[in-house]
Amino acid sequence: MASIVAAGVERNVAMSPEAPLAPVTMERPVRTDLETSIPKPYMARGMVAPDMDHPNGTPGHIHNNLSVLQQHCAFFDQDDNGIIYPWETYAGLRQIGFNMIASLIMAIVINMALSYPTLPGWIPSPFFPIYLYNIHKSKHGSDSGTYDNEGRYSPVNFENLFSKHARTFPDKLTLGELWNMTEGNREAFDIFGWIASKMEWSILYILARDQDGFLSKEAIRRCFDGSLFEYCAKNAKRSRREDEVKLLSEK
Ligand SMILES: *[C@@H]1O[C@H](CO)[C@@H](O)[C@H](O)[C@H]1NC(C)=O
Repeated sequence: MASIVAAGVERNVAMSPEAPLAPVTMERPVRTDLETSIPKPYMARGMVAPDMDHPNGTPGHIHNNLSVLQQHCAFFDQDDNGIIYPWETYAGLRQIGFNMIASLIMAIVINMALSYPTLPGWIPSPFFPIYLYNIHKSKHGSDSGTYDNEGRYSPVNFENLFSKHARTFPDKLTLGELWNMTEGNREAFDIFGWIASKMEWSILYILARDQDGFLSKEAIRRCFDGSLFEYCAKNAKRSRREDEVKLLSEK
């Protein structure tokens, strides 16, 4: 009897995500119930970005046999040749609604930072192209782990991002929670990753926050598979057209 109880206690310990002497494991809890809505949540997905509410990823989003990380970038490959030049990044940023100056600065910084590791050879290119085929080589550290090192999408790490950091609502992040999330993800001395993370999440926050200043889980998920950018481009185009109509009717 005692040994059965002891075995039970031992199993509880073996299954606990918390360690009493590491309070951070209690402050940032992990999900323990993912199998109820995502089959094999530990299995990184090559082409689809599921979460608990979207076990099949984004409805209507076409993967084109690209990895989820490649899909995230593919919107900016304006001529669909697998190479993203800074002027394509610029055009994409303009399409999703950023102004000229912001788009120019972001395009230069993004392409300068991400180009070199993706190049097919050793020789740097003065045009800073990003090769989609090798985009996984430009993945930085100090991130949420939602992309794995091959550019797949890891449902468990995506869900844990929210269980660890979404305190106010389970399915959105405040600006403060977002800040704490990037701070919590910092790896030692990984300056490139720290800066890249802060920049990426800032851009996403500016792009996709709601009226109350929250960044929704769905916006973040759709950023990972790139469908957010198509959505934003469509919205920006529609609002431009509405502005034109308004201007015409005022004349
Ligand atoms: C961020 O983290 C700090 C330090 O752990 C904490 O005091 C603060 O309440 C957190 N902010 C939010 C918005 O969760």
